Amino acid sequence: MSWRALRKPATVTSLSIILCIVLYWQSTNIHRQTTSCACGSCPKQNEDEGSWFSKRFNASFHPLMSSNSSVLSEKASKWWKRLQPRKGQPNYGEVVEKLFQIIPDKEYYRGTSPDRCRVCSVVGNSGNLKKSHYGRLIDASDFVIRINKGPTKGFEQDVGSKTTHRIIYPESAVDVDNSTHLVLVAFKPLDLEWLLNVFTTHRVRHTYTHVKSTIKANTSMVMVFNPSFMQYVHEAWLKKQGPQPSTGFLAVVFALHICDQVRVFGFGADKDGTWDHYFERIRPSFKTGQHKGTLEYDMIRELDKRHQIEMYRGW
Ligand SMILES: *[C@@H]1O[C@H](CO)[C@@H](O)[C@H](O)[C@H]1NC(C)=O
Ligand SMILES: *[C@@H]1O[C@H](CO)[C@@H](O)[C@H](O)[C@H]1NC(C)=O
Ligand SMILES: *[C@@H]1O[C@H](CO)[C@@H](O)[C@H](O)[C@H]1NC(C)=O
Ligand SMILES: *[C@@H]1O[C@H](CO)[C@@H](O)[C@H](O)[C@H]1NC(C)=O
Repeated sequence: MSWRALRKPATVTSLSIILCIVLYWQSTNIHRQTTSCACGSCPKQNEDEGSWFSKRFNASFHPLMSSNSSVLSEKASKWWKRLQPRKGQPNYGEVVEKLFQIIPDKEYYRGTSPDRCRVCSVVGNSGNLKKSHYGRLIDASDFVIRINKGPTKGFEQDVGSKTTHRIIYPESAVDVDNSTHLVLVAFKPLDLEWLLNVFTTHRVRHTYTHVKSTIKANTSMVMVFNPSFMQYVHEAWLKKQGPQPSTGFLAVVFALHICDQVRVFGFGADKDGTWDHYFERIRPSFKTGQHKGTLEYDMIRELDKRHQIEMYRGW
């Protein structure tokens, strides 16, 4: 037998072995990436440690408060106290305790599941939704998260009709129907007390603006953002710029935490550069206010660029 004849089968065998190892490694690797959720792609789970996203996103912060998470870290407590006037605040611990006798004390939306594909739409209030015809796309999501008073009635074709979560603060509160989670952003203990009182005594203390003394909402579906989560969004996502994150930006990070895929509608200016609401005209100077800072908008654009969210601008 010649040297060549012996050599050839040996090469083929070792090549096959290498091929098998590579294929096996690939299949386990693909398996590992896709078991994190049941959607076609699970953007959060494909992130490497140290990536732009991983440096900001921290799954250990849970967006919603339960009695378990009602004790604030020193850092969160300090940050939260800075937002509020010193005088006239009720005792945080007492209000929280009373509140969880009225609303469910549940740990919502913990963890992920390989069988779950939860698609969420966050719908902002930008005028770029006008004539967008996004309604059907929005309603096809599992969760539809709306912000402040952004209405659906009369705007269904562009913004849809479904609302699973509506994120509000006392001054922006509106009634919600019996299938919507009212989600409170509390900037101070007084806001938590307000929530308690609208469902109990209907006697609310006024701060600097008028707030409603009753709200139509199913109390067994009311949720409250955890101040620790708000502090994390301010620090990790906004590098502490501005006094606090806006309701809209909190909604986007909330969705990143609890959903497998996130679509974002109604943020930013329209194609002519106008900042407006789809349901009303706003003062031109509004965009320079603390809630329309371009940093938040740039962050949303960056998330879109990095395929963590899908942004729909209407143009
Ligand atoms: C996430 O936050 C927790 C609690 O603050 C912290 O201990 C942890 O180091 C953070 N993880 C990352 C990856 O930053
Ligand atoms: C609080 O945490 C404990 C231990 O993790 C858990 O058993 C309990 O169900 C939690 N309480 C609520 C209201 O979720
Ligand atoms: C309130 O929500 C609970 C839980 O989702 C539901 O079982 C109940 O029917 C709702 N009540 C009303 C009046 O819609
Ligand atoms: C929820 O509201 C709808 C329409 O507003 C009503 O038809 C339905 O009976 C309500 N459900 C409950 C459980 O009250």
